[in-house]
Order: sequence, then structure tokens, then C-alpha cells
Amino acid sequence: MEPFVLANEHVRLAMPTAADVDRITELCQGQDVADWTTVPSPYSRADAASFIEEIVPEAWRTGRGNTWAIRRPQDPEGPVLGMIGLTSDQAPTTDASAEIGYWLAPEARGEGLMSEAARLAVDWAFDPEGLGLSRIVWTAYTGNWASRRVAWRLGFRVEGTVRGHGIQRGRRRDAWIGTLLADDPREPVEPWPSAEAGERVGSGVHPGASPHG
Ligand SMILES: CC(C)(COP(=O)(O)OP(=O)(O)OC[C@H]1O[C@@H](n2cnc3c(N)ncnc32)[C@H](O)[C@@H]1OP(=O)(O)O)[C@@H](O)C(=O)NCCC(=O)NCCS
Repeated sequence: MEPFVLANEHVRLAMPTAADVDRITELCQGQDVADWTTVPSPYSRADAASFIEEIVPEAWRTGRGNTWAIRRPQDPEGPVLGMIGLTSDQAPTTDASAEIGYWLAPEARGEGLMSEAARLAVDWAFDPEGLGLSRIVWTAYTGNWASRRVAWRLGFRVEGTVRGHGIQRGRRRDAWIGTLLADDPREPVEPWPSAEAGERVGSGVHPGASPHG
């Protein structure tokens, strides 16, 4: 598939390019991204270069996945603010499924930007004229409430905690798993587990550091 831009008045998603290598290097060296994702750690400029020159275009070309850099629509040439991607599970079936993944620069958090980006990507992925998926899966290491909040807003149903489901740099970690089906409402479908999550959500106070799961 040819890479393309998805945009609305809040967010602009476009395939990252060679001009983004330094910025992606900087952001992927952030502690939260290292703690909660599977990017290499320590993260080098060569990691960002191979991500942009090989991994992302190859995934677009083969249909294995779709990755976009996140920017504001008013600043389409500005620094990357984050990344969002869908990775196909490549199951031999016509009702296709993909996993969603994302990260955001610390300075771009707390504004709902990722929720906007994820909504754009998800709407396109379910659209029969887009990927026509039947299902999208979200997983996060347990304790990643910020990520869970994004998934919750989009209507993902968190169906469980699976011990050792996540593999991060060769080590197993417990993970939450949630799914969203094509016909599900794209809005919260279950109460937010505020007691478990603590008082931070919705308080307007956005923690600088996430817990280490
Ligand atoms: C996940 C991520 C993209 C979310 O971006 P964001 O929505 O702008 O992030 P925020 O920091 O504003 O947090 C989102 C919500 O979770 C809440 N939250 C954040 N950390 C929390 C914590 N430790 N406990 C409880 N709630 C928390 C915030 O209060 C916020 O709620 P609100 O919007 O209703 O006020 C961003 O935190 C990130 O890039 N994290 C590092 C990488 C990562 O974890 N990627 C996902 C891997 S599965």
C-alpha cells in the first residue's frame, strides 16, 4: 500500500521521513517510551534510521503495518510529536485484525492528542475502504494507565490481564489486553477503574513520570 496522510483539524498523521531521524532518536531515548514500549534501549540514531528507512516503508509496502508520525495540522513540517502504528496479525483469514501501538513526546501529552490520532487511525482501519478490519487489539504492560486511558476513550474493552504475555527486550511482562470490534461503539463502554488507577486521571494533573510496571 502507498503511504498516505490522515488528518483532521486536531492532528495530522504522515509516514515519518529521513528528516525525522534525529527527533525520533531523541524521543525514543525518553524514559517512559523505554519503559512502556518495545523500542530498543539504549536507543541509538541507527535504530531510528533503520526504523524510518527499512521497517516503516517495508511494512507499508507489504501490508504488514501502517505507521504514521503525529504532528499538528497547523505545523505539518514541524517536529514529530509522536508515533502511531497498526500491525497486522497476518492471520490466514478474511476477517483481519491488527494491533495498535503509540507513543507521544512528553511535551505533547495531556491534550488528548493521542486520542485524536488513535481515533483517526482506528476509523480508517475499520472502514471497508480503508483496511476493512474486523478487530483491533490493544496491549500494554500492566500499570500503563495513560495508554489504557487512550484505549478506553476509543471504546476498547479491557478483557484481562495476562501473565507474561508481553515480551520486552527478551523479558516477559504481564500485560493488559483489550479489543475493539468494527461494530463496537467508539466511546467508553465500561466504567473507568478509578480506584485501581488512583486519583490522577481526570484531575488535570498530568504526571511527568509514569510508574515502572
Ligand atoms: C500513552 C501516551 C501516548 C498517552 O498520551 P496522553 O493521552 O497525552 O497522555 P497523558 O499523560 O495525558 O495521560 C492520559 C490520561 O491518563 C492519565 N494518566 C497518566 N498517567 C497516569 C497514571 N500513572 N495513573 C493514572 N492515570 C494516569 C492522565 O491523567 C490522563 O487522563 P485525562 O486525559 O483524563 O486527564 C503517553 O503517555 C506516552 O507516550 N507514554 C509512553 C509510551 C507508552 O506508554 N506508549 C503506549 C504503550 S502501550
